[in-house]
Formats: sequence, C-alpha cells, structure tokens
Amino acid sequence: MNTPLVDPFQRAIDYLRVSVTDRCDFRCVYCMSENMTFLPKKELLTLEELDRMCSTFIGLGVRKLRITGGEPLVRRNIMTFFRSMTRHLDSGALRELTLTTNGSQLERFAEDLYAAGVRRINISLDTADEQKFADITRWGRLPQVLRGIDAAQAAGLRVKINAVALKGFNEDELFSLTEWCASRDMDLTWIEVMPMGDIGNEDRLDQYWPLKDLRARLAERYTLIDLPERTGGPARYVRLEETGQKIGFITPLTHNFCESCNRVRLTCTGQLYMCLGQEDMADLRPALRNHPSDTRPLQEAIRAAIARKPKGHDFDYSRQTVDGQMPRHMSHTGG
Ligand code: GTP
Ligand code: 5AD
Ligand code: SF4
Repeated sequence: MNTPLVDPFQRAIDYLRVSVTDRCDFRCVYCMSENMTFLPKKELLTLEELDRMCSTFIGLGVRKLRITGGEPLVRRNIMTFFRSMTRHLDSGALRELTLTTNGSQLERFAEDLYAAGVRRINISLDTADEQKFADITRWGRLPQVLRGIDAAQAAGLRVKINAVALKGFNEDELFSLTEWCASRDMDLTWIEVMPMGDIGNEDRLDQYWPLKDLRARLAERYTLIDLPERTGGPARYVRLEETGQKIGFITPLTHNFCESCNRVRLTCTGQLYMCLGQEDMADLRPALRNHPSDTRPLQEAIRAAIARKPKGHDFDYSRQTVDGQMPRHMSHTGG
C-alpha cells in the first residue's frame, strides 16, 4: 500500500494542478506578453503521458485535480483526457475533477465536461464591461464568454468567477460585479495581482489593490459572514447576508496561506513545481519516459520532489529580477 504524500512540514499533498498547455486564446496583461512565444507542440506531454502522470499522483493520494493552462480547453483533444480521468472519479480514488478556464470554449465543451464528471468550474473574468474586458484580455471578447457561462450553467456546472483585483481597473465594479454574479447564482473570488506577467513592475505596484481594502469596502454595503469552510484551495470565504452568495479572497501578498498548502503544480512539459512562488522544480519526464511500463520510478521521483517542498513563497514587490518581475509566466505553471 502506498503511503500518501506528506511534505517536510507535515502538510498532506492531495491537490494537483496540471497545466495542459501554455497556449491561450487571450493575452491578459497580468499573465502574458502581447507576443508570446509558445512551446513547440512536441515538447508537451502527450495526453497518454498526462494520464499516466495524473493516475500516478492519484495512486499516491491526490484527491483533487484541477486542469489549467494557458487555456486548458484550447489543447487539442483535451476531452479525451478529461474522459480518461472519469474512471478515477468512478472508483472513488479522485474526489474532484475540475478546471480553471477563461470561458471562451465553454459553449462547445460544457456538456462534455459535465459528462466526464466535472461539477464545478472556475472562470476568470475581471470585468463585466465589454470594452474593459477587451482591454485587459487583449484578445478576449466578453459576449463569447457570457455564452460560455450560460452553456456551463445549462449543462449543470456550478460556476465560480475569479477576478484579479486591479486598482483603477475594476475597483469601480466591486458592487456591480458582486450583484452581477449574485443575479446569476455565481460565487466570486478576488485574487491579489501577483508579480508575474507583462505589466511592468511600476504598473503592478500602481494596480495593486490589497484585498483587505476591498473587503472593507464590501463591508460598507453588505453584511459579511465569515465561513470556516475551505475548498482545498487557497481562498478564504465569506457569505454576503443580503445576496446569499459566497465571496472568496485569495491573498498571496497580504496573507500568506502557505502553512496550509496542500498542492503542487505540474507544467505541460512535465516539471513539477512545489510552490507557485519559488523557482525550484523537479523534472518528472525522465522517470515517466524511461520506464514506460513501471510506475515505481515515477512514484519515487514524485516523493523525492515532495520532500523538497519549501515552507512558503516569497513574493515581494521589492524583489527585483532582470526586468523587475518573476521570470516565469503564470501560463507556464497554470496559476
Ligand atoms: P477552488 O477549488 O475553487 O478553491 O480553486 P483554487 O482557488 O485552488 O483554484 P483557482 O484556479 O481558481 O485559483 C485561483 C487563483 O489562486 C489562481 O489564479 C492562483 O493564482 C491562485 N493560487 C492558487 N493556488 C495558489 C497557491 O498555492 N499559492 C498562491 N500564491 N496562489 C495560488
Ligand atoms: N496575478 C494574479 N492572478 C493571476 N492570474 C493570472 N495571472 C495572474 C497574476 N499575475 C489568474 C487568472 C486566473 C487564474 C488561473 O490565474 O486570472 O483566474
Ligand atoms: Fe489566458 Fe488565463 Fe492568462 Fe488570461 S489569465 S492570458 S485567459 S491563461
């Protein structure tokens, strides 16, 4: 019997985030550059390799699998992969199969996702204003995403909206976005912008909107009831008494939640990042590829990587790299 994954700080690792592609059909300014160079397709793990990777993690006690990107739904034949994970839900080994998406492809895939066992999805949407949406995503078009949200809800998927909190950008939409989500029976999670992507360091500082300020403004209009429950993700939640909806806060900068971290991230090329905010990673490809019919080397490589998981991240706006930002793009590790 395999013992579950536990890191050096006695944190059980049961949540795997898997980026299945670095590509995206949007170019959100805090995530990508205008001109991204993407990996050649042959560098990506194949769908069969992704299956083997995920199945091995599940065999080691991973209970929650979140598929990310880039935009996961632009990966060719990705539904084949989702369907291949259904067996782990059916066996009870996997508790949740889910994804974080920009919503652009949901009209096409919502029903298939539900049929594969997905029940809850997170959609990234920072503004409900058509022009602002085009500005922040560069290539995204709001009506397409709205049709995707409709399709997801019609298919039976529970939708949560993720909005990156940006001062001077969506500050003025705090209440309207809340009401908009409430009217569609969607929860809403706010995320502090992290020092990655393409907005220069100065802009990022200007745009940084601490969630404690956001929360205080929210409390001027609504009654916030703290919720103890967690989803296995990093958000802390409140319920708004007036609308009944849940509002989440992800605060990597002002409230570090590393002490309860339960996750690791697999990139689309097979590297395992033990922490979003640290550069250390373990390349799992050799163990995967050199031993096609023996999973033990891969299990050992995963255990060795987990044994290196650091205590926490050190995001810090004062920390400068060559161009003043983390050298890694969010689309590489999947957020
Ligand atoms: P739920 O299951 O809904 O709780 O999902 P989640 O919050 O785990 O996943 P989601 O993809 O919606 O994550 C939202 C954002 O939280 C992502 O954009 C990440 O940037 C951020 N995030 C997720 N995990 C971590 C983490 O371990 N550290 C930090 N700093 N940020 C994280
Ligand atoms: N800071 C915070 N959140 C980010 N995301 C992408 N880049 C950043 C960043 N620099 C978010 C997206 C999406 C999630 C996967 O990551 O908006 O909700
Ligand atoms: Fe694409 Fe999401 Fe990055 Fe925007 S944040 S460019 S939608 S991967």
